[in-house]
Amino acid sequence: MGFGMAYATYLSNKGYLNKPGLAVLDIGSQCLLAATQDAINEFLKKHAHPQDPQKLAAEAERIAYFSTPRPGERTAYLSELLDLTDIRYTSYDVCPALKTEIFDLNRETVPSHYREHFDVVLNFGTTEHIINQFNCFRVVHDALAVGGIAMHQLPSTGYVNHGYFCYHLTLFNDLAQSNDYEIVDRWYTPSGTSNLAESGIDVRNAETPAQTSNKSSDNKFEQIPSFLINVVMRKRSSRPFSLPLELATAHAAISGQVAQAIENVSVEASGAIDNTGQTVAPGKSIPSGGLAGISGRQLAHELSRRVIRRVFPNQVPRLAPESQLLQPLEQNASPVETPAPAKQPSDNKFRLFEDAQVINDDSLNAEHHYLLGKSAQDSGNFDQAFGRYRKALALIHQYGPAKNQMQVMSSVYLTEAGKTLELGDTAQGKRLLVRALELDPGNRNALSHLEQVIATENKRDLTKHCYIFHDPQRAETIHREAVRRCLEYVSIAGVVGDVLEFGVLAGWSARIFCETMRDLMNPADIHLFDSFDGLPEYTSAVDINSYEIGGRDIWSNKMRFTDDFVTELGSTIDVHVRDRLSGVISGERIHTHRGFYSETLKQPLNVKTAIVHIDCDLYQSTVEVLWALHSNNVFQDGCVLMFDDWNCNKASPNYGERKAFQEFLEKQDRYTSSLFFTYGFNGASFFLHDRTA
Ligand SMILES: C[S@@+](CC[C@H](N)C(=O)[O-])C[C@H]1O[C@@H](n2cnc3c(N)ncnc32)[C@H](O)[C@@H]1O
Repeated sequence: MGFGMAYATYLSNKGYLNKPGLAVLDIGSQCLLAATQDAINEFLKKHAHPQDPQKLAAEAERIAYFSTPRPGERTAYLSELLDLTDIRYTSYDVCPALKTEIFDLNRETVPSHYREHFDVVLNFGTTEHIINQFNCFRVVHDALAVGGIAMHQLPSTGYVNHGYFCYHLTLFNDLAQSNDYEIVDRWYTPSGTSNLAESGIDVRNAETPAQTSNKSSDNKFEQIPSFLINVVMRKRSSRPFSLPLELATAHAAISGQVAQAIENVSVEASGAIDNTGQTVAPGKSIPSGGLAGISGRQLAHELSRRVIRRVFPNQVPRLAPESQLLQPLEQNASPVETPAPAKQPSDNKFRLFEDAQVINDDSLNAEHHYLLGKSAQDSGNFDQAFGRYRKALALIHQYGPAKNQMQVMSSVYLTEAGKTLELGDTAQGKRLLVRALELDPGNRNALSHLEQVIATENKRDLTKHCYIFHDPQRAETIHREAVRRCLEYVSIAGVVGDVLEFGVLAGWSARIFCETMRDLMNPADIHLFDSFDGLPEYTSAVDINSYEIGGRDIWSNKMRFTDDFVTELGSTIDVHVRDRLSGVISGERIHTHRGFYSETLKQPLNVKTAIVHIDCDLYQSTVEVLWALHSNNVFQDGCVLMFDDWNCNKASPNYGERKAFQEFLEKQDRYTSSLFFTYGFNGASFFLHDRTA
């Protein structure tokens, strides 16, 4: 229908176009209409990037002239106006135009690099021409960034010979409700009349439906006003697109069977009946399922069939060109517990894993690494590209250029995962999905597929179990926040180094670290130190006489899992932990160090640390850890020490982690410390300051 200049002015005056480097997605390439030179100049005064004023004025004049459609002349595009500004413009259309990507709104989904990418999405008279309304509004939702604005201008009445649909406010109200949009503005715009008779439309009297005559009907019905509906909505949260259900005039509550078929259905009007006949409260979701009663291998088979069939086959992802998928796939060591795959993926091979470590070259900055990564990516070496991008990200948190390319690569890994799973290679498919998420934690397709693959495996997972705290849910909230604060600090402050955990037990806190590292795009490795066989013998008088041991003996079983338990588990605890956490970040980033610290810390440790998580309860163990890290030069200026058992032993400075750390600070003169924050009832985190830095 075209985009009137008045709407560019409206969006600008409302402040929706103010963000530097703002990205606009135009659903349908719009012509710019009714743009006077004055209006263009006003707009450019606010948004034009610096350029020759004479050239700018000439462009404004040209665009103004061509914003009036004339036979035989091409009308100006909105993209031509925005080209003069810092606003980045992209359009989706099935017909080529300036700045337009060919995209079929009936069939295609937003590629991961464009997910939640756009600050403004415009739908000016496009979706009424598309049969697949569900996909149209899903595309708008998926493309829009949280906090971004979607503006729709669509036919609401009249328009009898235009497109397939007219829209009501109800649709936008319900879309807003089920997807947490804020409706920030809405109005109607009169836009002429539709003359039914002239349009050849037969209007009949309701009492005489067989009489084919416009003349017999009341004249006043020959003209109906045409109105456009305008709705401006802000996306407030990141969640998968949810279908509204319009049930206001339904004769009864919706059947649970129907509701179940629609994922995340929001039941707003009448309430729904679930499979058990219970009414589901309005606004609540009905989980999809239908698998009750299927068990064991059958269930696994069914789930895997659903993963493959539902998710991958008909997806039309917008991928990097085939030329980026060039390198042959090397055979990788499969995770310890996973049997060798039945078949190998045959075509579309590229190097994925063997060369993905962060490349340590301190003379290069983030931009250098990015450029090297881009060139590796362009030549098809995704491993090396990932290594370089990780390094760029380590130097500058979420470094934009690298992050953008990683999103592009993420969709390639996702597609490759689909093909691999189809060939029955679940282990490799899972690794590809994990990598897709490391590349783009916002890739919700990858996340949901990964979750389904893991559910299909149906394996026990001790890392999801909190063995320590009496209220696991509260402990999880507290520890997630504490871990996130520390990871955010080191990531943003540029404390580049690995995460070291002393005291892993069955991997509960290690999982929190891995998930948060992935979600924040912190590219560090994680080192997990534990005997994986419980506490050592108590050798220090400090421990033997402490409140926890001498007084109460609270670890009487020394935190050992019984032999029967381990036998039933089918692998040692360290193998189990690494295998399960490899479903969060790539296994290559997880290093387990099995054994008592008195042994494992004899090995040279050639890493720098950003965060050390000390959760090993004992004075003696903490002493061993602190001094070994010091003598191996693992600490660095600004790194964080998290002590999980800081308040054990009645918070006495005479025992446990408190005493060990106090002595450490007194007996060496390189590092001092200051409190970062305390967490929960027991934890405290500190910065280390290097006097020599
Ligand atoms: C409280 S648990 C760790 C809990 C874990 N962080 C969690 O959140 O589930 C303490 C762990 O420290 C380990 N540990 C303590 N001292 C050790 C030492 N000297 N050598 C090896 N492991 C030790 C024990 O084996 C035990 O698994």
